[in-house]
Amino acid sequence: MTDRVESFSTDTWTAGVIGLGYVGLPLLVTAVRSGLQAIGFDVSSERVADLSAGRSHVDDVSNEALATAIEAGARFSSDPAILAEADAIFICVPSPLGRNRQPDLSYIEAAADTVARFARSGQLISLESTTYPGTTEDFLVPAVAAAGLTLDDDVWVAFSPERVSPGDEMKTADIPKVVGGVTTRSGDVAEAAYRRLVPSIHRVSSARAAEMSKLLENTYRAVNIGLINEIAQLCHELGIDVWEVVDAAATKPFGFQAFYPGPGVGGHCIPLDPQYLAWRARETNFTTRFIDIAEQVNSRMPVYSADRIAEILNGQGLAVRGTQVLGVGIAYKPDIADDRESASIHVLDVLKERGAHVAVLDPVVGATRIEALGYEPVGPDDDLSRFSIAAVLTDHSDLDYKRLADQVPAVFDARGVYRRLGITAENVEAL
Ligand SMILES: NC(=O)c1ccc[n+]([C@@H]2O[C@H](COP(=O)([O-])OP(=O)(O)OC[C@H]3O[C@@H](n4cnc5c(N)ncnc54)[C@H](O)[C@@H]3O)[C@@H](O)[C@H]2O)c1
Repeated sequence: MTDRVESFSTDTWTAGVIGLGYVGLPLLVTAVRSGLQAIGFDVSSERVADLSAGRSHVDDVSNEALATAIEAGARFSSDPAILAEADAIFICVPSPLGRNRQPDLSYIEAAADTVARFARSGQLISLESTTYPGTTEDFLVPAVAAAGLTLDDDVWVAFSPERVSPGDEMKTADIPKVVGGVTTRSGDVAEAAYRRLVPSIHRVSSARAAEMSKLLENTYRAVNIGLINEIAQLCHELGIDVWEVVDAAATKPFGFQAFYPGPGVGGHCIPLDPQYLAWRARETNFTTRFIDIAEQVNSRMPVYSADRIAEILNGQGLAVRGTQVLGVGIAYKPDIADDRESASIHVLDVLKERGAHVAVLDPVVGATRIEALGYEPVGPDDDLSRFSIAAVLTDHSDLDYKRLADQVPAVFDARGVYRRLGITAENVEAL
């Protein structure tokens, strides 16, 4: 076999992506932009049909970008046999939590099974799904063996975490890519392939180190958010404005990174990923105390936020039951339409359970989805005066917060958006 490091470095090769979601689709588009050929396999034939027709479901890939990729030769299929055409296979399938918050590895298992059935000699197989250290070795090394292929001879196996954050300005190609092979040789081949996709590679010694680095990044965020959420509760008890305190601390030019409190942590990464690490730790009788405490604090924030809203209503002589509450922002973070694991939903569900009439204003997520989630949608230009309180749970940029405070008697600002925008209003109380 020709030297794979050299051929991945110089030839025009084909990138094959398994799982065409928030991670896989941008990666495929990045490959095409890098002058490579690209094919995508997804188990969802509906998704494949949409993509083939030029309809993107990922905020970070516009229909125009998808059309350009298709014109350049990108193809999509729900038949895994297409993977035979790929020189490198990038696995970007989900890695959620199961019912008892343990890792649900069924998607990675299924992708490994696809590899076992369709991998061929000459391919690099790289896992990108976020997962516990050891997954690539546990699932993909046996998969290539089951395909009758010899590691480092016929095929190479690596892990490289995706680090994009939906809605963020920085896209796949802007973020340094951590790459680690299950062996040094596999790492060399993976590094050569990834160098064609992104300008900056950070090579680590093993797939396990690469897997662990991703979990460290997201655990770091979860723990620091947990810390500031606890400090926010203490500040409220002490009558101190936590937002003012964070802004002050953030003026220190070193040694402090600002994290902000909120109604909980949402999305499909920060609340989930540390649990992969905690689960793996438990297998070795190791207790991840920081992860557990952060989880306790963060998962309690929606109830804490609902309690604060109830407190404000109480101050007005109102009960939660029977009161009209407007939830502002149901996406899990600003300026994206994704509501997966959104803390806003948890807050509003608590209020609903307590008898409030809850409506939602979120122009980014839109009325259809809001209705599907079981809430009455409210438009940005609607009259808001019927609500007794508005809770800003996600701080989308394109909203008139001044008008909100003018129309609704009380606003609970769980995101510190009024301070950030310099809008002063007597009836706004921040978390
Ligand atoms: N979304 C993010 O911003 C982000 C960021 C970093 C890392 N990650 C990680 O990347 C991975 C993928 O996340 P995502 O957000 O892209 O998921 P997603 O749900 O958006 O997309 C996953 C896709 O994989 C497909 N799929 C599922 N099983 C399959 C299989 N066996 N074979 C082929 N296709 C299959 C699904 O149909 C879906 O289209 C996860 O491990 C996640 O934790 C996500």
